[in-house]
Amino acid sequence: MTSKKSKKETGASSIWGGRFAGGPSALMEKINASIAFDHRMFAEDIAGSKAHCAMLARQGIISKEDGKAILGGLDSVLREIEAGTFDFKASLEDIHMNVEARLAELIGEAAGRLHTARSRNDQVATDVKLWVRGALDGLDEGLKTLQAVLIDRAAAHAGDIMPGFTHLQSAQPVTLGHHLLAYVEMLGRDRSRIRDCRARLNTSPLGAAALAGTSFPIDREMTAGALGFDAPTANSLDAVSDRDFALEFLSLAAILSVHLSRMAEETVMWCSDQFGFMRLTDDFSTGSSIMPQKRNPDAAELVRAKAGRVFGALNTLLTVMKGLPLAYGKDLQEDKEPLFDAADTLFVCIAAMTGMYEGATFDLVRMKADAARGFSTATDLADWLVRAKGLPFRQAHHVTGALVKLAETKGCGLEDLSLEEMQSVESAINKDVYNVLGVENSVKSRVSFGGTAPDNVRKAAKEAAKRFLK
Ligand code: ARG
Repeated sequence: MTSKKSKKETGASSIWGGRFAGGPSALMEKINASIAFDHRMFAEDIAGSKAHCAMLARQGIISKEDGKAILGGLDSVLREIEAGTFDFKASLEDIHMNVEARLAELIGEAAGRLHTARSRNDQVATDVKLWVRGALDGLDEGLKTLQAVLIDRAAAHAGDIMPGFTHLQSAQPVTLGHHLLAYVEMLGRDRSRIRDCRARLNTSPLGAAALAGTSFPIDREMTAGALGFDAPTANSLDAVSDRDFALEFLSLAAILSVHLSRMAEETVMWCSDQFGFMRLTDDFSTGSSIMPQKRNPDAAELVRAKAGRVFGALNTLLTVMKGLPLAYGKDLQEDKEPLFDAADTLFVCIAAMTGMYEGATFDLVRMKADAARGFSTATDLADWLVRAKGLPFRQAHHVTGALVKLAETKGCGLEDLSLEEMQSVESAINKDVYNVLGVENSVKSRVSFGGTAPDNVRKAAKEAAKRFLK
């Protein structure tokens, strides 16, 4: 009796329910269904299906008519999803089965031929790769825009002096432009990691089928080419179980979020009253509900914090993948949420940093005054003693230390010591010493390649624009 019941009556899945008498329990559906998040891969899923269908028709595995009907139907499904009229069903588990079931409603029997010579295993691997590839391209674009803003501001501030820090103590004067270009280099390395990841990712799993390949005469080169992949993957077992590209994406995402958090932390500090270097525009500042005077850099604080989510995503997927036997395991469904969350997080962080740095203003007077504090030109004095007076560097270092101590007891800067006072420490010193003591002289002298001299920075900004913005 039961065996005569239709699948509908038993509640078994219409897609894989052939051998099932009953449908999944509500709890099974809850833990199993991924449609709540993998619906985001609808465009990739449909693109993959269209490539597969065109190949099946060309190879004569399905008829030309069926091929045409499927392609047309997939376009309709795509339009429905884009228009927001598509009814996603958890009972259909995931994006792959939701699309296929709707296709069957739209075009009837021919829809059942689309899944010839493929499996959801190669299908999902293809979809995730396409999605990650799109995310990589989007992140690269976002980083390029952020670099453009930083380069622009660096060129404008090539000659504006600020303190350079080591140990967050004033170390030597640098220029603001030089400081901003340091971030441009950091982000440039992130972009080169994005390129590496993209190049290694770009092989097509489609046609690996469930795990072993297929007996149908498919053309994997054709589907790979249609989807913008360089080649099909070489081993079907590896193809359906590999998520290295996702791990690489999350690894580079983690490093990128480290960079953004460093930038964000400096933004928070620079906007404080204590530093007073930087002021964000109103649209990137928030007020306090109790303290009317406050301008808080919440966006920067959040960028600083959101690195934690991205690290979490990397950790999640590393842990999912660890010890997973070949080939596909449902564990792999857990790759998506960390990927989506890391990408979403980074997109908003990059955009926020871009917005903040586009409009921020700098207190150049304060930065310059601050650059002179903390005996920041002591190294210039020591270098001068070596260059002009022939002292060994170690001795020059010692002499300068004594002069710093003297200035410190007097409560003045090095340039405020009289010549007599200086000579009381080192008789070889003459009035030329004052030429190296101001912060302007200091930065101007740092002409070595990659150094902070304003002319260098002007050139470096131009060169960075050529390297990164073309
Ligand atoms: N939703 C699944 C995933 O994301 C699709 C693949 C399911 N494959 C299977 N054999 N059950 O991994």
